[in-house]
Amino acid sequence: MNIVLMGYMGSGKSLIGNGLAKKMKLKYLDLDDYIEIQEKKSISDIFKEKGEIYFRKKESFYLKEVLERHKNCIISLGGGTPCFAGNLDIVKNNTNTQSIYLQTSLEELTKRLFEERNKRPLIAHLETQDELKDFIRKHLFERSFYYNQADYKVVTDKKDSDQVIEE
Ligand code: S3P
Repeated sequence: MNIVLMGYMGSGKSLIGNGLAKKMKLKYLDLDDYIEIQEKKSISDIFKEKGEIYFRKKESFYLKEVLERHKNCIISLGGGTPCFAGNLDIVKNNTNTQSIYLQTSLEELTKRLFEERNKRPLIAHLETQDELKDFIRKHLFERSFYYNQADYKVVTDKKDSDQVIEE
């Protein structure tokens, strides 16, 4: 059995995934980290040097590889992973995999992501909090369709990480 965490950038997938893995005594795997190791490049450099389409192809390839090769793992996806190239079906059709959507509000995501947007190629160019908020609003509108198909949903607003892990 694997547990897959999905949700927007900044929803806490890595923090919660790590904590959940410790609590459940399972391994933890972060798809972005896995891609960086396999490609020997940071996600930002992959976007910069090869573009988003290349990244999405690799993301899909490595998602399949991770689900095939690893069992009894908590796996954090990238924010966009379930929204591209049939990736959601790959997760859902895998009978040994349960998925959880970490749902975080627009306000909270904007607050969390503004200071650390430089690390994330899709939002690094946005200069003000208002611009970022507009971007996230539109993106969330498109992506929620996919996130909402997860098996379970946990709202993360106004909770500390222990509470989210417990839920
Ligand atoms: C992306 C989210 C990032 C990373 C890439 C694209 C997205 O992962 O996969 O920058 O499309 O939302 P995190 O959600 O872990 O930041």
